Amino acid sequence: MCGIIGYTGNNQAMPVIIKGLKTLEYRGYDSSGIALSDHKNFSVFKSEGKLENLIEKTKNLNNLSETGIGHTRWATHGKTNETNAHPHTSEDGMFTVVHNGIIENAEIIKEALESKGYRFISDTDTEVIPQLLSYHYDGNVPEAMRKTFSSLDGSFAVAILCRNEPGTIYAAKRQSPLVVGKGENENLLASDICALSEHAEVFSYLEDGEFAVIRKDSINFFDSSLKPIEKSFKKITTESSDNSKGNFEHYMLKEIFQQPEKIRNLLKDKIKNKKIFLNEIAELSLDITKAERLYIVACGSAYHAALAGKFAIEEMCRIPVEVDVASEFRYRNPPVSCNTPVIIISQSGETADSIAALRLANSRGAIVIGIVNVLPSTIANESDYVIATKAGREIAVATTKGYSTQVAALYMLALHIAGIKKTLTDKQLEFFTNELIEIPEKIEKILSDSDTIENISEKYKEKKELFFIGRNTDFAAAAEASLKLKEISYINSSAFAAGELKHGTIALIENNTPVVALCSNKQLLKKTLSNIEEAFSRGADILCVCKDKTFCNKNYKTIIIPDCTDIFTPLLEIIPMQLFAYYVAKKRGCDIDMPKNLAKSVTVE
Ligand code: F6R
Repeated sequence: MCGIIGYTGNNQAMPVIIKGLKTLEYRGYDSSGIALSDHKNFSVFKSEGKLENLIEKTKNLNNLSETGIGHTRWATHGKTNETNAHPHTSEDGMFTVVHNGIIENAEIIKEALESKGYRFISDTDTEVIPQLLSYHYDGNVPEAMRKTFSSLDGSFAVAILCRNEPGTIYAAKRQSPLVVGKGENENLLASDICALSEHAEVFSYLEDGEFAVIRKDSINFFDSSLKPIEKSFKKITTESSDNSKGNFEHYMLKEIFQQPEKIRNLLKDKIKNKKIFLNEIAELSLDITKAERLYIVACGSAYHAALAGKFAIEEMCRIPVEVDVASEFRYRNPPVSCNTPVIIISQSGETADSIAALRLANSRGAIVIGIVNVLPSTIANESDYVIATKAGREIAVATTKGYSTQVAALYMLALHIAGIKKTLTDKQLEFFTNELIEIPEKIEKILSDSDTIENISEKYKEKKELFFIGRNTDFAAAAEASLKLKEISYINSSAFAAGELKHGTIALIENNTPVVALCSNKQLLKKTLSNIEEAFSRGADILCVCKDKTFCNKNYKTIIIPDCTDIFTPLLEIIPMQLFAYYVAKKRGCDIDMPKNLAKSVTVE
């Protein structure tokens, strides 16, 4: 997480950096800071909280410096206060640094430096970087960098200013992303290309172990032993997206309402002879019919998308699917081989655990299919095949259109494989394809009744906790519904497989305990209704999300969704649940687009 940016050129650095930080704020927003290189000194400004606070603090400054670095933070070490905000400066004032990543051996280095008389002022891991640079510095910055970065464990993308070299930004990278942009009489670097696109047209991504030296009229790259290296710059057109909220109060609401259009757009061009065919994986170097098993690996909501996809792939393709959380998969020695393709799902394409899972799969010879929204991104670049989810830029931290396009992409993949494997007849393929095509219109229908969900949500704003239950596909949607609610409303909630409730959790049900029951899967409706009844008889206050309320006890409140084949129901059920979470959070006065403690792109493990 954390966003870093550096600028040197003919323009005033501060406005460029502030604007860049605004686009990077999705990476963390608990504090921010900027360092400007004045002759023989730095001016450093920091603020706790969102970037607005830094903007307010610096608005009357007319700093003419043309070189500077900036940072927006998601804390990994130390509280979220001004002292711990970046940039961090060495005690002698020689180096100032912004950092994205985690230095895992910071404590040991700190102790060693303290024993030599160095004093530290922050609780961060980052502060060891400028201190160590200063310790190794004898007039040669690259040499000090070589020594410093070779002694660090962990991950970093770092931009460095040295007091003796105003006009130069030094950069280093391991694991965390860093891209350099070349402009006219100005050069920049940042964690994400979107922060550079106004000033640069061609870009070069740093690889692990590489260093960059950036001046307004030159960019030089070195490998870890300081040997100069040539790197090519590519023109990369970033998606020009509409970054306004339009008529919506929050980005999240706008993105919820964009879902029909985004899913429609995803399905476009994929339908041939009334069947789904994915050109992206047409040349798959493995006969997919011979795959022993598929792994789907992801984090958070993308993991919940994988749960929904598992049901579709197993049902339609008759291939066993193992779904795993990336942070577990990477450390559990999974039996992955060239016969077990691995699907990595990621909206951002930069999630550290998912990248590590991808690399593990690669090292075992597995084919990796990335289902990714942000292109280019590390996961897209390193996957053997990429299915782009085309959701467009997602600004709200809690994903909505990112998630639903992932689910839709998995359904397309299931239909593609089923077509090749012939596990479905042509008639069945046509049926499911038509069902999928109809989903966007059905979502529109749900969205047109958002007022009903707003009204229903009213009484939940005071609740301390909620349970979401469901079976099979309903459980996949329940897991995502629960995460949506807790991350933006801060109400504790958990999702359970409905049949599991009686094995322990039912002990928590008492008078008026709110239980949201997802029961749209018609095949399992009776079974789920029995579980709901068990909770109701112990006092639970039930809200059902279903396709047909005639089976529900009339004491239950209901949200009715349009009919569709069971396997695709998560795509419909999640819509009222996203709205439910949104309205509950709104009524509680929460900061919906930037919930506390979160960041949009989780680049640390
Ligand atoms: C929740 C949310 C997160 C992400 C997770 C993975 O609303 O957005 O749980 O789904 O951090 O992120 P990506 O998909 O970027 O790998």
